[in-house]
Amino acid sequence: MTLYDKFYLNDGTTLPHVGLGTVHIQGGKGIHQIHSALDVGYRVLDTATGYNNEGMVGEAVRSSFIPREQLYVSDKLPGLAHQYDKAIALIQESLYRTGLDYFDKYLIHWPNPKEELYVEAWQALVNAQKYGLIKTIGVSNFLPEHLDNIIEATGITPATNQIERHPYFNNKDLIAENDKRGILSEAWSPFGREINDTLTNATIKEIAKKYDRSPAQVILNWDNQHHVFPVVRSASQKHQYDNFHYLDFELAQEDMDKIDALDQGEKGRIEGQNPNEYEEFI
Ligand SMILES: NC(=O)c1ccc[n+]([C@@H]2O[C@H](COP(=O)([O-])OP(=O)(O)OC[C@H]3O[C@@H](n4cnc5c(N)ncnc54)[C@H](OP(=O)(O)O)[C@@H]3O)[C@@H](O)[C@H]2O)c1
Repeated sequence: MTLYDKFYLNDGTTLPHVGLGTVHIQGGKGIHQIHSALDVGYRVLDTATGYNNEGMVGEAVRSSFIPREQLYVSDKLPGLAHQYDKAIALIQESLYRTGLDYFDKYLIHWPNPKEELYVEAWQALVNAQKYGLIKTIGVSNFLPEHLDNIIEATGITPATNQIERHPYFNNKDLIAENDKRGILSEAWSPFGREINDTLTNATIKEIAKKYDRSPAQVILNWDNQHHVFPVVRSASQKHQYDNFHYLDFELAQEDMDKIDALDQGEKGRIEGQNPNEYEEFI
């Protein structure tokens, strides 16, 4: 198996081995938590309009004293702005909120397929990239038919697809579909958030003991060896450190298989959010 210290995207850019999730990281306390992560070494910050923290993320970036070009801010378009004009205006508004000149990466947060507007939203991202507002464009929670529809309409393939993925819902078929199209899979909620008990699962704990690593490091290593970019949230510097340093060991195939076998299919989803049914507008 291979471990990736960076991930190459189909637009010629790269991502490091891990990104920091920021849902629930907010306000003045949030700035300290982001600075703590930057001190550990994180450079990718994953936000969304719906997280109500774009201003905080921008402030944390500007007050970090790390050169802008070394930081990587990834934001997301909410479902309420899938119409073309609304999408362009919302991307600009998000830039004003962050106080940044461009986003390094920008994703459509959910396809909301019943609205039939995600192709229009994708066209807006394609053009926003041409205008210089965004460097890398991608999607989130897109299923194969959604991917094919946007690629066929615009000729442009997303660089990444950020999807639900953790040991109880490993989403391996969608990852294979992303791979087939040259799209990097990003894992959201790699630990199953505060809802699933992946970090205290007996199999994961047993594997962690075998390698003398933490359950968190085992899960992130498993993602990486499956060529998946993990987006993980932690407000604590101890956990941030742990999660950043997961590359110095290699899970054997038999242990990769044991984690793969924890998958529970659809019932393993954290909140049952099947992208064909679930809709999110904020
Ligand atoms: N695209 C989408 O639709 C979508 C959906 C959901 C999430 N996301 C993105 O994915 C990111 C990550 O997902 P998430 O925030 O839902 O959950 P997560 O990263 O799976 O889990 C976060 C939880 O794990 C704990 N934790 C982190 N590191 C730990 C460690 N080493 N040991 C023990 N506990 C640890 C955190 O507590 P502490 O803070 O105490 O460490 C927190 O309670 C989000 O923040 C967001 O950026 C995207």
